[in-house]
Amino acid sequence: MLDYMKIQQGMFWFLSIVVALVSYRFIVLGMEVVYANETHQLLTFKNAFYLHIITAPIALFVAPFQLSKRFRAKSIRRHRLMGRIYCAAVLLAGVTGVLIGFNAKGGPIAQSGFVLLAVIWLIATFRALQVVRLGQIGLHQEWMIRSIALTFAGVTLRIILPAQLVSGISLDVAYPIVAWLCWVPNLIVVEYFIRRSRTAKGRL
Ligand code: HEM
Repeated sequence: MLDYMKIQQGMFWFLSIVVALVSYRFIVLGMEVVYANETHQLLTFKNAFYLHIITAPIALFVAPFQLSKRFRAKSIRRHRLMGRIYCAAVLLAGVTGVLIGFNAKGGPIAQSGFVLLAVIWLIATFRALQVVRLGQIGLHQEWMIRSIALTFAGVTLRIILPAQLVSGISLDVAYPIVAWLCWVPNLIVVEYFIRRSRTAKGRL
């Protein structure tokens, strides 16, 4: 019998780590090389963009470790340390996400999708930190799950966009759609599971 839960968890680990590492192609090759044929307006926001592509993959890389029960149980000190790294990465990647979001290609629909994603990402992560300081572990887990679902937009975007392009949708149409589709479904799915688990625990 296939254990679907294990397969999903394996996919989550694999995709988070692979997409995070592949994102460093910009650092290895240099942004000018990767964007050689584009007169991309992002170049004006070079510093914010660089900070974003250095810090966002760190959050993505750390995310599966933070969610893992086994990893947490082995050392709570390591969980705390990696949690700080995750929050610092989200803070930097989120603030720069807002800045480059306002200038993203794809026009106002894409731009508003990215900016809102960045703002909700920052809020969810800040709330997770705030409640754990108050000792509210259950709420901390819920907010972290929301935050990580948004971090995972870094993966879903890179799955949905190529799929759109392969199915013949032009980049101009695909981009504004994916700017929303990369995170709204993630949030709806985890919200459903959070509420279901609350009901199961008799907290609603
Ligand atoms: C969750 C909040 C995030 C927001 C709001 C956000 C926003 C953006 C925006 C607006 C761009 C430029 C798009 C353009 O104009 O073409 C971008 C590019 C990029 N982001 Fe993020 N991002 C987020 C998360 C992530 C994560 C988790 C990763 C980790 C892999 C990541 C890695 C990158 C990379 C490598 C680029 C360069 C372009 C590319 O590879 O497609 N971002 N991001």
